[in-house]
Amino acid sequence: MKLEHIAFLGRTFQEYLDMFGLTSDALRGETVLDCPAGPSSFVAEARSMGIKAIACDPCYSLTGEGLEKKAAEDLAHVFDSFDSFRDNYIWTYYEDKEQIISLRRQATERFLNDYGESAGSDRYVEAALSALPFPDNAFTMALSGHFLFLYEDWISIDQHLQYIRELLRVASREVRLYPLVTLEAEPYDYMGYIVSTLEDEGIRAEVDPVRLEFVKGSGRMLKLTHC
Ligand SMILES: C[S@@+](CC[C@H](N)C(=O)[O-])C[C@H]1O[C@@H](n2cnc3c(N)ncnc32)[C@H](O)[C@@H]1O
Repeated sequence: MKLEHIAFLGRTFQEYLDMFGLTSDALRGETVLDCPAGPSSFVAEARSMGIKAIACDPCYSLTGEGLEKKAAEDLAHVFDSFDSFRDNYIWTYYEDKEQIISLRRQATERFLNDYGESAGSDRYVEAALSALPFPDNAFTMALSGHFLFLYEDWISIDQHLQYIRELLRVASREVRLYPLVTLEAEPYDYMGYIVSTLEDEGIRAEVDPVRLEFVKGSGRMLKLTHC
């Protein structure tokens, strides 16, 4: 898939569980950072279940209205060219394109409601991965979906490492990254280098299979744990 910019598109809580190999029970007692969260409803839904979670995204500088407009434009942008890339997808998790669009809309609506009600709370934080505004070990776990490796051509190897180190700094136990393929459905070229560099820094890396495989080869996530 070819995009003109990094899409402000979000997934539901269930999609998060399925892409990160989690269950809602496993999340109980965790303090979770979702970065970048975009208009995903993970934080809204997690908090409604009593799970502590915070969302970060540079776009949270915008008002709710601005985010609603951006999410609608980006949804149209992504799905306008969707059919040209059909060969990149596997239809085992989703039924059809309409179901995916409906899930994106559901996630965005839930996010926007919660974002609108969040004034005075700390649950939606404007921040980029280059410098997260949290102290070391502020969270037990950090989740980063549909950003890093997906945008291989836009984020340099050094930036990838810098962003992952920043997630590891704020997560006391683990960081989970998904997917491990690019927008073109190719494996990320420098995964070996990234993993060996992090292992040299005392991080344990493991690739685990997950339920959500839509882009071909995306049914795996990288779990990084402090040794
Ligand atoms: C596709 S969304 C990810 C949403 C969610 N994690 C999911 O899996 O559905 C990608 C997000 O990356 C954000 N982004 C762009 N540059 C960023 C940066 N330097 N640091 C953190 N987030 C960034 C965009 O604002 C966008 O919301």
